[in-house]
Amino acid sequence: MPFKVVATRILPPDAQARLEAENYDLVQWKEDNVMPRDELLKQVNGADALICLLTDRIDSELLDVAGPQLKTVITMSVGFDHVDVDALRKRSIPLGYTPDVLTDAVADLTVLLTLAAARRMKEGMNAASQGEWGSWRPTWLCGSQFTGKTLGIIGMGRIGEAVAQRLKPFGISRTLYWGRREKPEVQERLPGAQFKAQLDDVLAESDYVIVCCALTPETKEMFNYEAFKKMKKCAVFVNTARGSIVQQDDLTRALEENLIASAGLDVTSPEPLDPSHKLYQLPNCVILPHIASATFETRERMASMCLENLQAALNNQTMPYSL
Ligand code: GLV
Ligand code: GLV
Repeated sequence: MPFKVVATRILPPDAQARLEAENYDLVQWKEDNVMPRDELLKQVNGADALICLLTDRIDSELLDVAGPQLKTVITMSVGFDHVDVDALRKRSIPLGYTPDVLTDAVADLTVLLTLAAARRMKEGMNAASQGEWGSWRPTWLCGSQFTGKTLGIIGMGRIGEAVAQRLKPFGISRTLYWGRREKPEVQERLPGAQFKAQLDDVLAESDYVIVCCALTPETKEMFNYEAFKKMKKCAVFVNTARGSIVQQDDLTRALEENLIASAGLDVTSPEPLDPSHKLYQLPNCVILPHIASATFETRERMASMCLENLQAALNNQTMPYSL
């Protein structure tokens, strides 16, 4: 009997072709939207493997419906806050994911958002296209630059480090970071980077505060009104990690009250963020629809890692990219 493999979405083309060429009993949601929960629960029954996305909730209900033959859950993402890891552990089901390969793409887009927010790109584009250009003006649409400034990285993991490395040549003079622990190995690659055990110290001293940490019970809504109040008025806030790390109403208020200068977001809460949301109306907030890892190269590579994991798990081997 071929293995039953459930995939909640069509993969990027090369990986999809490879998946289809395998001799699996393949059940795949073919629409370009989230596989409905009831459909997923129906299809996952009897599955040997599940390939999912960050938009699928993987919990004990789903695992119970799937049954004891389920050998693996593989998410095509680096984040796995949508997966109940304890529920998997209890059933001895390993979790596959896709770290490292998306670091460059995510760090690139984080720099893009940081620059866009700092240099008021949204206001500039709107002004140009809406007849407000007038003339070159000495003080019009001035933003902040990086030279001599302090960068604050929240979560100095692979992505946080890649962002800091990219911003150094822009002239950042100090890099501070907050996280669960000091990382001497990162400091060797980023001379001068300083660990701060107190988040408040990073908030108070940084001109750029960039969120690169995982969503956990500890980081959930850690950026609330109080946190924004502690930041500099000229601060630029960027989040390419998870929307729920930010108390979004508080961010909206902080931007409206100019407690901070601007924000760049690739993630929101919820996703998608309704087009009527106030944040879109704010001139000092740039929002992208969770596309940080969206390059052709990276998405193919992520899917390819999922397939390597799949093959290993179905052969009762340890998955190469797993927790
Ligand atoms: C994207 O947000 C990911 O976790 O891969
Ligand atoms: C700007 O365009 C300048 O020439 O200073």
